[in-house]
Amino acid sequence: MSEQTPPGTQVCGHGRGLFVAFEGGDGAGKSTQAGLLAGWLTEQGRDVVRTHEPGGTELGRTLRELVLHGPDGSVSPRAEALIFAADRAHHVATLVRPALERGAVVITDRYLDSSVAYQGAARRLGHDEVRQLSVWAVEGLLPDLTVLLDVPTGEGRARRGEEHDRLEREADDFHERVRRTFLDLAGDDPGRYLVLDATRPPEELAGAVRERVARMLEEAA
Ligand code: TYD
Repeated sequence: MSEQTPPGTQVCGHGRGLFVAFEGGDGAGKSTQAGLLAGWLTEQGRDVVRTHEPGGTELGRTLRELVLHGPDGSVSPRAEALIFAADRAHHVATLVRPALERGAVVITDRYLDSSVAYQGAARRLGHDEVRQLSVWAVEGLLPDLTVLLDVPTGEGRARRGEEHDRLEREADDFHERVRRTFLDLAGDDPGRYLVLDATRPPEELAGAVRERVARMLEEAA
């Protein structure tokens, strides 16, 4: 959980770290699971960087405020897509890629698939166009593993409780398109995804994530 590798910390053995993204609708429990995985890996003596989008960097925190906390209608759909892509470009260039290069495990709460699902599908800006924009922004860096925490739309809304950002305020059909798109992305590339039913108890979910990540780390060693 540091920007420098502390002495004696284990790094991944294949000259590059491991990049894990947590994705899912609002209220799926991504932060909880990202935190549990980071804590477990840290206990194993791993160099772990836990981060999130939007807002994982100083520039990102300003962009996050602009894109999420204005009144409805304050950011046009294409500007929204570009702001998320700008946040991601800076996040990868200054934090994610340097950490991977020194052999850390990087765990991010949301990444590129969130843009494909929210801006590409739910805002109807186009799956391929939005994906290409982000792939360009990050110079092609994709996660080694994406954990998709799938939660039914109504359940996600109930868990979120009070609505607090522009995206969360969108109607259920918007969130339904987000959910479908995440599931389709995972279905198209099953080797790079772990899809979990987010209504299962948190400890069970954490166990499934640990098992998959432990296997990947062993293979990389
Ligand atoms: P997040 O920080 O995960 O939400 P929380 O408020 O629970 O901490 O994400 C904020 C919102 O941003 C969420 O509704 C999803 C949205 N989002 C996009 O629309 N596109 C993106 O590319 C990303 C990263 C997030």
